[in-house]
Amino acid sequence: MLEVRGLTKIFGGLTAVNDLNFTLDAGEILSIIGPNGAGKSTCFKLIASFLNPTSGTVRFNGKDITGIGPHAVARHGIVRTFQENTSFQDMTVRETVLLGYHKDCKASLAGMIFRTPRARKDEREAGEYADHVLDLLGMAHLANTVSAALPHGMLRNLGIAVALAAKPKLILLDEPFAGLNSDETKRGVELIRKIRDEGVTPILVEHDMAAVMSVSERIVVVSFGSKIAEGTPAEIQQNEKVIEAYLGAEDTEIGL
Ligand SMILES: Nc1ncnc2c1ncn2[C@@H]1O[C@H](COP(=O)(O)OP(=O)(O)OP(=O)(O)O)[C@@H](O)[C@H]1O
Ligand SMILES: [Mg+2]
Repeated sequence: MLEVRGLTKIFGGLTAVNDLNFTLDAGEILSIIGPNGAGKSTCFKLIASFLNPTSGTVRFNGKDITGIGPHAVARHGIVRTFQENTSFQDMTVRETVLLGYHKDCKASLAGMIFRTPRARKDEREAGEYADHVLDLLGMAHLANTVSAALPHGMLRNLGIAVALAAKPKLILLDEPFAGLNSDETKRGVELIRKIRDEGVTPILVEHDMAAVMSVSERIVVVSFGSKIAEGTPAEIQQNEKVIEAYLGAEDTEIGL
């Protein structure tokens, strides 16, 4: 589904991502891990075309999508969530999720203003899909809550809901469990599996090693921009290079 080849990003004198290669099959749960500053978020930004690579290619379902821009990438079915919580201001949760659905509506603006049958059908489908996504995320009871009033954990879920509303094929989740307590993280792990079972392939960047080890089918480890290991959770936990990279880093642990 996804093929990253020789992906490199140099910021001034700093090589943030260095000749990164990996592939991903549809339906597989892959995590990218590595110490702070390893280049994980940059890698997501390159895949989602928020940044242009210095060199290398990103192919999605056989098509070269390198540097085509975030909107074009979204049209191909790739969305990303953000490492930071997005602020959604004074819209309700349901309205916020509907923003994500927007690109799928086929009625024209005139159709929406004059409420043609086509526009009404689109609106109904969008509403049904938003409700489905909220249900999936366990947020149905919050549909009419103002987004800005949500607690941190639910705001992170809302970011995922907005991304899912676009009906992507691939979702890039940047630290979905950041700041969640252990119960919320357990529910998050279940959610990742549910998302995959819905036909959306997830890739995670995540520091919570217990969660990563439990949810991932394969893990890519980066350090200083380069891939230093790839394998199953069991293989990664025993990998000498990985242990070394994490021992050298502060405030992160591989969970051994
Ligand atoms: N726009 C930018 N301009 C210059 N340097 C940048 C830019 N974005 C990221 N960097 C640098 O590139 C390196 C990789 O950053 P990145 O955010 O990808 O790391 P990360 O692996 O996501 O780290 P973390 O786990 O802390 O989120 C860091 O040294 C960072 O300071
Ligand atoms: Mg990051």
